[in-house]
Amino acid sequence: MYEIVNSTEMLKKDKADNYLNRIILGDAIDVMRRLPSESVDLIVTSPPYNLKNSSGNGLKDGRGGKWQNASLLQGYKDHNDAMPYDEYCKWQRKCLRQMLRLLKEDGAIFYNHKWRVQKGLLQDRHEIVKGFPVRQILIWRRKGGINFNAGYFLPTYEVVYLIAKPKFKLAKGANAYGDVWEIKQEMNNPHPAPFPTELTDRIISSTDSKIILDPFSGSGTTAVSAIKYQRDFILIDNSAEYCELTRKRLNGEPWN
Ligand SMILES: C[S@@+](CC[C@H](N)C(=O)[O-])C[C@H]1O[C@@H](n2cnc3c(N)ncnc32)[C@H](O)[C@@H]1O
Repeated sequence: MYEIVNSTEMLKKDKADNYLNRIILGDAIDVMRRLPSESVDLIVTSPPYNLKNSSGNGLKDGRGGKWQNASLLQGYKDHNDAMPYDEYCKWQRKCLRQMLRLLKEDGAIFYNHKWRVQKGLLQDRHEIVKGFPVRQILIWRRKGGINFNAGYFLPTYEVVYLIAKPKFKLAKGANAYGDVWEIKQEMNNPHPAPFPTELTDRIISSTDSKIILDPFSGSGTTAVSAIKYQRDFILIDNSAEYCELTRKRLNGEPWN
């Protein structure tokens, strides 16, 4: 049985082993700070993109735009996704510092994000990843979708930053994959921004990692792949609703 643990039950300095294969309900930074350095092999995560803070015709805070009908217009259950940009970058850099601290010396982070145009310029998220050991940028090319805006071509890609410690190596044979991954987006998941399992399958099976952390775990897709490839996982999300969704999903109960 996979269970939810409330972060209020954690010790200030706790052991990662106590949370293997658990869904931790709490704030990503607060929980990560309680875990010891070099305790996980791999981090696979997709943070909130701050999409509702947009200068253009994107996903604005309640003002419609090209994502007018997208479920993300409501933000996440416990995160509004519309921080001032500087504050957002500082927050994400803080998260990445914690992630890097938690990684073993041969570990890596697969950090999914989205580039966008803001005030006529490319916002490629270098303000977030600057100074971190970015080794490669993968393109996740989604297969399609619905475009609600006649002024834009349909956006069909996201990026995955591979941020790796020096000793990180791919699993045998995984270097045969190219750096553009064509993977259909998830259609059958009530979470507003889930990973497709094909993406987390590809990432996890491309490594020999044993313990995998996702500090923004949403509907728990990272754990679905971890279980499939017989790895241990630790999930963190600050939404009780998404943690419960994940619990049901991992335990094979009706969830979607
Ligand atoms: C892009 S979604 C992740 C979706 C996930 N990859 C999946 O497959 O379902 C980002 C998640 O971050 C969570 N979140 C937002 N702020 C958080 C925080 N401070 N601490 C932990 N989780 C947070 C949201 O609840 C949301 O589920």
